[in-house]
Amino acid sequence: MNRISVNLASNSYDILVAPGALDTAADHLAPYAHNDRLFVITDDHVGPALLPQLRRAFQSSQIKLVELSLPAGEQSKSWQAIEQLTNWLLDQGVERSDTLVALGGGVIGDLTGFAAAIVKRGCNFVQVPTSLLAQVDSSVGGKTAINSTAGKNLVGSFNQPAFVLIDPRVLDSLPDRGLRAGYAEVIKYGLICDAEFFLWLEQNINRLMERDEEALQYAIARSCENKAKVVAADEREGGIRAILNLGHTFGHAIETATQYKTWLHGEAVGFGMIMAIGLSLRLGLISTDDMTRG
Ligand code: GLY
Repeated sequence: MNRISVNLASNSYDILVAPGALDTAADHLAPYAHNDRLFVITDDHVGPALLPQLRRAFQSSQIKLVELSLPAGEQSKSWQAIEQLTNWLLDQGVERSDTLVALGGGVIGDLTGFAAAIVKRGCNFVQVPTSLLAQVDSSVGGKTAINSTAGKNLVGSFNQPAFVLIDPRVLDSLPDRGLRAGYAEVIKYGLICDAEFFLWLEQNINRLMERDEEALQYAIARSCENKAKVVAADEREGGIRAILNLGHTFGHAIETATQYKTWLHGEAVGFGMIMAIGLSLRLGLISTDDMTRG
């Protein structure tokens, strides 16, 4: 089990990385259930796979799970979905002291975090990320947004979660394609700030693709440690946090040009990083050896 602190000027929080953590979610999430209830937001892919497990974890607890499932996919990062979510929360009588639980990948995390920022002028939320990409990147650091016709993530808020609960075992049912897309963000940390981790990734990529539990837990925890350090240094991206966007400008352009239908976010970021590295070579900032490494 790894516990990583995201140390901020205010509202610091912890990330817990523990195989099997979803089975003991009631223990981990109880401190956030202020009105003996938690509002669980998920999607119609993750919900059928993981809600039964979450419900079992709360079976002998006083805490009631109030659940909403939204359509899976990037199309849900929209005004329509945020309207549906906030109206549902208000219909349920949500209060500022309540906590929303984002059970899903980056889309559900972003939507839930943004809803938590604006409903009743702000309530609490925790992240329970279920894709590798969300576990190593989007669930940590408080960036929440929906897409606009002008581009990706252009309407949103910095809103830090109160806690991030990561169970690497939920990735067991993730298709290889989703896992590979998530590794783009993992490799990003090696490239931007952790050369030792990059070396480890070069040596252990087969273990990771075979879903070796120990290797996966290490890669997730090390990614979160790197992200936590960068976010602590520059929470609202006035400077150094921009390094976390390596490949994202190209990646967002790829996603927008293909209407979010062709590439997974991590795949677009992976191609975007290759394009950024190609640009660096042309600008004379890196060598051909650097470019072809790995
Ligand atoms: N995904 C980039 C960031 O959180 O800053």
